[in-house]
Amino acid sequence: MKDKKVFKPCDLLIFGALGDLSRRKLFISLYRLENANLIEPDTRIIGIDRHTHDNASFVEIARNSLQAFLNEKMDDTVWSRFSARLSYQKIDLTQLDQYKQLNDVLDTKSRVSVNYFAVSPVLFKSICQGLAKSGVLTEESRMVMEKPIGHDLKSSKEINDEVAKVFSENQVFRIDHYLGKETVLNLLALRFANSIFTTNWDHNTIDHIQITVAEEVGIEGRWDYFDKTGQLRDMLQNHLLQILTFITMEPPANLEAKNIRNEKIKVLEALRPITKHNVEEKTVRGQYTSGYLKGNAVPGYLEEEGANKESTTESFVALRVDIDNWRWAGVPFYLRTGKRLHTKRTEIVIYFKQLPHNIFKDSYPRFLPPNKLIIHLQPNEGVEIEILNKVPGIDENIKIQKTKLDLSFSEAFKKSRIFGGYEKLVLEAMRGNPTLFLSREEIECAWTWIDSIQNAWAKANETPKPYPAGTWGPIAADFLLDRDGRAWEG
Ligand code: BG6
Repeated sequence: MKDKKVFKPCDLLIFGALGDLSRRKLFISLYRLENANLIEPDTRIIGIDRHTHDNASFVEIARNSLQAFLNEKMDDTVWSRFSARLSYQKIDLTQLDQYKQLNDVLDTKSRVSVNYFAVSPVLFKSICQGLAKSGVLTEESRMVMEKPIGHDLKSSKEINDEVAKVFSENQVFRIDHYLGKETVLNLLALRFANSIFTTNWDHNTIDHIQITVAEEVGIEGRWDYFDKTGQLRDMLQNHLLQILTFITMEPPANLEAKNIRNEKIKVLEALRPITKHNVEEKTVRGQYTSGYLKGNAVPGYLEEEGANKESTTESFVALRVDIDNWRWAGVPFYLRTGKRLHTKRTEIVIYFKQLPHNIFKDSYPRFLPPNKLIIHLQPNEGVEIEILNKVPGIDENIKIQKTKLDLSFSEAFKKSRIFGGYEKLVLEAMRGNPTLFLSREEIECAWTWIDSIQNAWAKANETPKPYPAGTWGPIAADFLLDRDGRAWEG
């Protein structure tokens, strides 16, 4: 039997341990990993923030967060193992001298320090400098950061430059939580482990591809962040482009991080720029007005708490994207994402080409509908293939109808636990496996493309189109496909 891989225990330092990200996501992910016995027994979790707390009150904060956000009952044994790992250090993150106290806490000989920056990027510079000054960093140390990594290419470079003064690129783990989602990773298996797809995955067989990331939530009290950001930067620059690169990249030589990243970069570099000359025909921006979601009245974007009534920030975006390379020439990609849409749904729909001729005119008088591959990323993970089948019977004519081959992951993999995105990524950061994290180059390529859209919008000076909460976005998003003789998957 192959030996189980042994990973070095960590000192996981959470900078911003009292903040929203820690309370809503990190404690929960770590607790679940504990529950699955996936955290090294000697790993410690050290919360760092500027408020005064002792270990006991920090443990209490973690417990309260779990009680508020964990959708399952806490197990006493798991909690006692988990809470024993927790401790707290008060550091004002802007005061470089205060970081030296970490020398009394960390054990850099037998543990790797994993520095999770769960704070706004404005603090990254001082954390990097404080850590460097304190002398606690070694070549093995890692830093974990997540979006927003800047709001454009320039600011993203500034952040990456600051971090690079202290951490080399192979020590930096940049999170996009979509890359931790089981179904996003399954795209690799689906594409590169199944000959039926590897040989049918280009402009010869595929007509077009749709990617939808629809959210029911609004901006959840994050007006200040979201209004400066908008849906293009908040969701498309990262999550949708990641899905797009996984769907379209060439097969990497193997699953090593550098090979996967290189293939993704090639796709990002091949994205046809959207500029002031084509922005109107290729993009739709929307902003939700008040409406109903699941029967409940919800306010419009401009009525959200703290709203500036004049805001022209988009909460919805739809794009037609073209990839200028050999494989995808002539295949349009339609991407849409928005807040306060009809339902939460993330899916990729691959429309194969129509057959040139129809011999089943009795059941389908005009043309045969194309096959579709639908990959559901959330909420119900699975894969469906829409095919045409003969209706059983002894009729004179062969009647055919659409049928679905439906593979729901929760049914097919009943015994396997499906891990959440954060769980997987936090675990991989602790293990030091960079495969699911983003390189600097990838992020900067994505920003270059997004910046040109943002600039084109600014020049067009166009206000976003209104759509009532609870719908599928502005009607203009339908025209985007209608113009090409297509329609969004219902
Ligand atoms: C985050 C965005 O990155 O992703 C949020 O900042 C968004 O605005 C969230 O709601 C969506 O994540 P998920 O996993 O719920 O699809």
